[in-house]
Formats: sequence, C-alpha cells, structure tokens
Amino acid sequence: MTTLLGSSLPRPDALGKVTGDARYPGDLVRPGMLQLKVVFAGRPHARIVAIETSAALAYPGVVAVLTAGDVPYNAYGLIDADQPVLCGDVVRFEGDKVALVVAESQEIAAAAAKLVAITYENLPAVTDPRAALAPDAPLVHQHHGSNVLGYVPIRKGDTAHGLAEADIVLEGEFSTSWQEHAFLQPEAGIAFVDDQGRLVVETAGQWLHEDRRQIAMLLNLPVEQVVIRYATIGGAFGGREDLSIQHLAALAAWKLRQPVAIVWSREESMIGHHKRHPISVRCRWGATNEGKITAVEAEVIADGGAYASTSIEVTKVAALFATGCYEVPNISVDGYAVYTNNIPAGAFRGFGAPQAQFASEIMVTRLAHALGIDPVELRRRNIYREGSIEPMQEPLPPGVSALPVLERCVTEAQARFQQAARRSDDHAPGTTTFGTNGITSHLRRGIGIACGIKNIGYSFGFPEQATATVELHGTGTVEHAHVRVGAAEVGQGTHLALGMIAAETIGLPLDKIVMITDDSSEAPNAGSASASRLTLMAGRAVQDAAVAALLAWADEERPAQATVQFRPPATTPLDPITTAGRPNYAYGYAAQAVEVEVNTLTGQVQVLRVISVHDVGKAINRQQVEGQIEGCVAQALGYALMEHFQMRDGHILTPHFSTYLLPTALDMPTEIVPVVLELADPQGPYGARGVAEMPLVPLAPAIAAAIHDAVGVWLTEQPMTPERVLMALGAQQTKIERPG
Ligand code: MOS
Repeated sequence: MTTLLGSSLPRPDALGKVTGDARYPGDLVRPGMLQLKVVFAGRPHARIVAIETSAALAYPGVVAVLTAGDVPYNAYGLIDADQPVLCGDVVRFEGDKVALVVAESQEIAAAAAKLVAITYENLPAVTDPRAALAPDAPLVHQHHGSNVLGYVPIRKGDTAHGLAEADIVLEGEFSTSWQEHAFLQPEAGIAFVDDQGRLVVETAGQWLHEDRRQIAMLLNLPVEQVVIRYATIGGAFGGREDLSIQHLAALAAWKLRQPVAIVWSREESMIGHHKRHPISVRCRWGATNEGKITAVEAEVIADGGAYASTSIEVTKVAALFATGCYEVPNISVDGYAVYTNNIPAGAFRGFGAPQAQFASEIMVTRLAHALGIDPVELRRRNIYREGSIEPMQEPLPPGVSALPVLERCVTEAQARFQQAARRSDDHAPGTTTFGTNGITSHLRRGIGIACGIKNIGYSFGFPEQATATVELHGTGTVEHAHVRVGAAEVGQGTHLALGMIAAETIGLPLDKIVMITDDSSEAPNAGSASASRLTLMAGRAVQDAAVAALLAWADEERPAQATVQFRPPATTPLDPITTAGRPNYAYGYAAQAVEVEVNTLTGQVQVLRVISVHDVGKAINRQQVEGQIEGCVAQALGYALMEHFQMRDGHILTPHFSTYLLPTALDMPTEIVPVVLELADPQGPYGARGVAEMPLVPLAPAIAAAIHDAVGVWLTEQPMTPERVLMALGAQQTKIERPG
C-alpha cells in the first residue's frame, strides 16, 4: 500500500466553499426562469372545502397556480407513498402543501400566494403518540384504520425467566424530542426541460437515483426522462433524504415547459422538512449481583408525524438498539411508529440509535451504581464480543470491536482527565468545589462514559447495493481514469475518499482520477449518502470496479472499462412471529468520555472535554475522519443539551434559529479528542467502515452520567436544558428536606 490511504489530503471543494465560488442550489440561474412559492396548510388537521385561486392567478406576473388536480400521480414517499404532493381533500400537518404559485419573481409569487383562498373545516388533531394509540383516537389517515404506522416486536429468550433470575430489577422512563437538521443551505433548486426533452432537476439531495424514481413516478414519466443533478450541498444529515422541493420544481417546470426555481427561507425549511423522531422508552432491566444483565423489557414509541417517511425503519433500529451494544439473553421489545398530526419525522444522523441508547446507556450506568460495580466494569461484563448473539437471535456480523473501543476510551480518559485536573489545579470529579472564601461553589464537575453502536448500511432486508464504473485510459500505460459513482457529496468528503480508493487501487496519482458523481444520467446508482454507508458500500464498488478494469486492461481492452455492483451479505426483514433474522451486515462501534461543569444556580451544563473513540476499520483520509467526529460531537452536544424543537397542539413553536438554539463556538468543549482505531471490517474497502453517525450515539447518555456524577441527579429527558437540570435539582432538594 502506498502512503495515499490514511493521509490527510485537503478537500478539493474546500476552497470554493470558503471563497464563495461554490454554486449551491440557491445560486443556480437559467434564462427566463420562474419562481415558485408554496402555500402551506398552516393547520394540523382539516378538510379542504374549497380552494379559490382566481385572485392569485389575476395578480400581475403570476404564471400559474397549481393544485392537487395538476399532479399526475399525487402520492409519494421514500418507502411508502402515503404523502400527497399537493393536498386536495385533507391536510394532516402544518407543513402540508396545498398550492404552488409560479410567478415572474419571488416577490410576486409570495404576494400572490397570500391570495390563494382555502376554506377549511378543522378536524380533531392528535398530537401525542400515546393518545394516538387509544382506540377512539382521531385517525390521521382514515383508510389506514389505526394510527399504528408500524409495529416492531423483538423477542429473544424468555424475559419472565430472565427477570426472575435477576438479583436487581430497575425501571426507567425516557423521552427525546424532535431535532432539526439545521444544514447551512435551506432547500433550493431549479428544474427545466432540456433540448432532448428530459426533465432536469438541479438541486441538493442524498440519493440521485431515488429522487429520480420518486419524481418520475409522480409525473408518470419513464425514469430515463428525468435527470437529477446535485449542485454543492450545504449539509444534509438525513434531512435531505425525503423530497422537499425537488418534486415541486419538477412538477411546475414539466407542466409549464419553463425553467422554475425555488428557494426556501429558513422558516419554510424548518416547517417543510421532516425532523428526528421524538421517542419515548419505558423499560425494565434485570441483572445479577455478579453484574450479568439477564433481561430487558422495553416499550419504544416513536412519533412519526403525519406521513410515513422512514418511520418504520427508524423504529426498527431503535427497537434493535433498546439493549445497546450488550449481549442480553432475554429480550422483549415492542416498538411502535405512530401517526400523529405533528411534523413528519424521518432520517437524522443516527436514525433511531441515539434515542434508544440514551435510555439503554443510562440504564446500564444506573444498574452499575445499584450493584456497586464500576460502570465500565459492568459494561465489560456484558458488551458485545465476536460471536455474540444479537436481539434477533443470530450472531453479530464479524468484526465486533465494541470492547477494544471501550478500553481505549477508558485509557484516554484516565490520562487526559487527570492531566487536565492537574493543569487547572481543579478538583476531583464528583466532589463539591470550594471557592477561596470557603463557600460552596455553584460549579460542580463530573465525568461520564457511554458506549454506542450503529449499523452501517440498510437494515432488515432493505435492498442494498452500490454500483460504480471505472474507465482506464492511456496508450502504453494507464494514464488517467474516470470513476463514475452516483454518491452524494453532502459535506462529508465522500468524493475525495472514493477518489483516494480508486487512485490507491489503480496505482495512479490522485490528480489522474476524474470523478463523475453528480448526474443520475452519467453516474450509476451507489445508493444514498446515509446510514454511514458510502465509504464501505460505494468504496467497495469503486475498489472492485477498479480491480475489474485493471483485468480488462491486462486483456488489452482500450479504454478498459468495468462496472461492478457490490452487494453485501443479505439482511432479513423482521419476522413478525419469531422476530429472528439478520438485521445488519456491519456495525460501527463508539465510546465517549466527557467531563462537564454544572452550574447549580442556572442549571447550565458546560461540556469541558470530550473523548470520542471510534473503530473506523481504516481511515481513508484521516483529517476527514477527525472532521466527521468533531462535527458530529458538535451536533450531538446540541442534541444533548440545547436543541429543543417544540410543537404545541400541532403548531411549531420554534421555526427560527432565535428560538431553536444551536450550539455556537462558545458552547463547544475546550477539548475534543477524536481517537481512531483501525480494526478492519471484513467487507470494507481496505477494511474501512463508516463513522458519520456514530459520535451522535453515546454523547447524550455520557453527559447525563457526568451530570449525575457532578450533582447526583439523573436527567431522563433530552435535551437536558438548564430548566430541566434545575427542576431535577429542585426535586432532589425537596427529597432531602422532606425525607420519606
Ligand atoms: Mo441518514 S439519518 O442515515 O440520512
């Protein structure tokens, strides 16, 4: 192997992004392009009695007003096509779309959108998932018959037996809230019909070929007639997995045969795209005095909102990880994805794993405390090892590195936290600190640790593949190569990583590799930029195609070309009776240790230090791996402590960044230590596995444990805001003052 793999090469897209030269979807311009404005429902549940468009149409500069009748096939969705493009009879959440106004300018479109007069008859809204499960609850989808979008049972062993065997049984109840992706560029794009009669959509997204499939379907077009191209993408994090505006611009451009542009404001983006699922977990964990976990029972309820999106898949992941990364002999989990009249919930970095492991990691630490066993030691006694049996009753895919990742985290934490304590001459974690005047300080420090597991790639039988084409050009020797792979560069650095894999495999310098990646008609389907899968999946497709192209080259083919579809070992759908099977083909393992300072007067939690340890199999580009870890820790910190997307009675209370608080530089820890282990995944290219989502999994429970270490209370609701910390401290105070 050359020194290329593992080096910290700079990103080719970095310069344009900082100078402003990069063209994001909102920067795209076509001559004569029209502007599109969406008319949102603005109410959680209502019947549409009438839509009056004549006043809007009469407004000078308005070209068209489109409504449900203008959509050839008015249903779409990533997994289930249960969402109307434009609502014709019923609206089911505030951000449902009822009409599109197309006009000569954004100002005209916005003014005319206000003139679309819609008469509604309000329907009872159901906005609490538990209430939505009641037999007499109003139905979000009449024809569906109930609000249960998906039921996910997982059974292993015999929990009654396992709980009877336990020396101690703890109960817990946890809740998490929505999270907003808050990517830098709100949704935008243009659509037009090109001179070959193809409908071209230039936008941002996470999966060229899936966007193409959905748009072709709702317009009744053959997929070849639709071309999706990605411009520079300002982050995605799962939030661009579902269609948001791409199909709206496509519909208008196809109808009108004119170029159409759309740019959402931040507020439209907040209301218009799905969020991370709020999930509540009720559970019971049993363990023996020796620290063996004997049984886990859990109920996992996910608020799916008004449309399916990926809710069932997220709920499967959450149910699977209700026992974290621990081998538990007896498991009974009931997962429910529930329809409500809230904003739809869907993919967000971690995809159900952070919510489930917020609960499971806190439960493991609580068990350790109750048993008088060190929380790290309890983890060691139960953590997944090679050959451990998963909740779905089969062995884990090979390459299990949970324990070495935990051990490395412990070593790093011991070294760094002690060092830091010596440097700042501060006090041992978990003890009260005293000011110079001898008065108890209101600042308390604590440390916490947590583990995390996240699948790489699609789970539970969802078809999984990645395809790449490599072409080798030259006369005597290979002089340069074209790599065609339809993988979305959402800011994670996949194009550079895939280029490095190609260069390494072919034996060319990186600047002799031409990457063709952003056009669905030019690059084959590599699947989505999601599930931390592109490095492993698209990376293997590129590597295998490069090897095959080299063989063709040896056979004197000029240019030599090979297309390879990589398919990992099959996973199996959830069996509704036995629940046995193979949910995933690969996992990423993480562990984090944190040190926090809790202000007992304000409830503010400042994270001082984070150690984030990951087995990435092989770091293709070390700087990018560390960047993913640091960026993800920032997002995880916001999730743990601050980001509180709120709805009340179906209305979003936090549609702006002034009310939805994101962490800034001042909220970040003084030290984030990314630690990268390279224990090869048996399938990954050069052993690489994914890392993108993993740092989001352990941070919230690690911070919860550190808060407990500092002030002795458990926070069980995410985000752990100052108000909630104060409330927990107040409850503790009351207990002390009024014993019994
Ligand atoms: Mo991501 S949550 O796998 O788009």
